[in-house]
Amino acid sequence: MRIVSGMRPSGRLHIGHLSVLGNWIRLQAEHECFFFVADWHALTTSFDNTEAIRENTREMVVDWLAVGLSPERSTIFVQSHIPAHAELHLAFSMVTPLSWLERVPTYKDQVQQLGAQGKDISTYGFLGYPLLQSADILVYRADAVPVGQDQLPHLELCREVARRFNHMYTSVFPEPKALLAKSSLLPGVDGRKMSKSYGNEISLSGEQGAVEEKVRMMITDPARIRKNDPGHPEVCNVFTFHSAYSLDEVPEIEADCRAGKIGCVACKKRLAVALNSMLDPVRARREQILGDRDYVDGVLEEGRKKAAAEAAKTMEMVREALRI
Ligand code: TRP
Ligand code: SF4
Repeated sequence: MRIVSGMRPSGRLHIGHLSVLGNWIRLQAEHECFFFVADWHALTTSFDNTEAIRENTREMVVDWLAVGLSPERSTIFVQSHIPAHAELHLAFSMVTPLSWLERVPTYKDQVQQLGAQGKDISTYGFLGYPLLQSADILVYRADAVPVGQDQLPHLELCREVARRFNHMYTSVFPEPKALLAKSSLLPGVDGRKMSKSYGNEISLSGEQGAVEEKVRMMITDPARIRKNDPGHPEVCNVFTFHSAYSLDEVPEIEADCRAGKIGCVACKKRLAVALNSMLDPVRARREQILGDRDYVDGVLEEGRKKAAAEAAKTMEMVREALRI
């Protein structure tokens, strides 16, 4: 299968991103994969504040490489480096009824949400967000797209656009299917969804001390006042994290907590150790990547070439189909 997926450049990633990235890493072992940073998509909501896009793009690529995305197996690149995404978006904009875009559920939600925060995104580009996404996918004639649940409406639109184009002109595009990543069940350290904007994230690239600090902030079972009060791991966020990362030790931690044999401070220390030992190899790899100043540019240039060659083939077919 040919696989395509992208992420908006949010800068440094956190452990909540590991489920999506784990999916990508598994897929690259068996399929032809294209993974890109959707920097044009960042402009749809941040067109008035573009200062950080380049830096965030790089940081994100460094994290991808540090967790194991491999430039030997996958084509890794930046959306805006391949003009064919924009060109195909324009072609699709000619054939896509406005009503299809207006009824994408994420559109209304976001306009409302961001509108409530005082941000006006009634732009042409924002309405076209999922159409650009369709072009991202179809410019490589992808068979499948690994995404989170929230992206399903965009994938549905992508298939509709492919179908319409194929019927109206010549059959150029497959109708790509979604490969759903299990969404991360882990909340942030404060129990809300893990997100940099809440400051409750555990960054993939933070120092050991930063992880310890975040773990210290975590709320435990409020019924435990003294160290030897019996605890209720099922209501404790620290335990949720242990369940995800401390595999072998989980039964013991659970039993000790219920019996009041382990205090929350000690329990948190164990969690910080578990998280840090998971992140140590990622940090080391990150250092190694950053140690070679030209490495990331090299990866992105290599990716650009491979992606551009594939995109050019599609655009040839598209021009032929459109007779332009
Ligand atoms: N919209 C996606 C998101 O916010 C990012 C994205 C852009 C994407 N283009 C894509 C995902 C193409 C998959 C395929 O997560
Ligand atoms: Fe949570 Fe651990 Fe304290 Fe039990 S001992 S309440 S699992 S932090």
